[in-house]
Amino acid sequence: MTRLISKAAILGLVVTAGLTLAGCQSAPETPEASLYQQLGKRAGIAQIVEDLLFLIVDDERINQQFKGVDVASFHRNLTDQLCQLSGGPCTYSGRGMREVHADMAITDTQFNALTENLILAMEENGVGTGAQNRLLKRLIPLYPDVRNL
Ligand code: HEM
Repeated sequence: MTRLISKAAILGLVVTAGLTLAGCQSAPETPEASLYQQLGKRAGIAQIVEDLLFLIVDDERINQQFKGVDVASFHRNLTDQLCQLSGGPCTYSGRGMREVHADMAITDTQFNALTENLILAMEENGVGTGAQNRLLKRLIPLYPDVRNL
């Protein structure tokens, strides 16, 4: 039987990692607030990534791509990556984007689906549109590597 990452696995991750519900942690969107702060620092980003995982599981456009994925490792690495990209005090120690996604043949539709889910996860955590767009702008340079272009 093919195995997708399951909601149970994500809940297990939450319990084992001792993550707490970050709730609505975003700082007000003042020009002074760094993007990292607007995302709710590392705890807020970890919550966004957890919510993203639930959205991925429910999304028929992309959930097959995630079958058999180590949820805890994916969660930690994506959280560190977004933390670092947003200017936070984190160091991404996962694999390179081209290498990770090399054999997935990711389509534009799938790339957009993941982006859409990330936006939804940020919405769920009270991140304002300005901060959402600032993060997306920092992800755009990764597009050719993720798509293997
Ligand atoms: C800007 C867009 C994206 C970013 C920033 C991103 C980032 C990441 C990161 C940080 C990891 C963890 C790497 C590691 O554990 O060493 C990862 C893994 C993964 N990504 Fe992406 N990703 C993006 C788009 C996508 C898309 C569109 C898909 C498929 C629809 C996808 C599917 C996967 C899968 C299945 C893994 C797990 C690979 C494994 O553990 O073997 N990613 N991605």
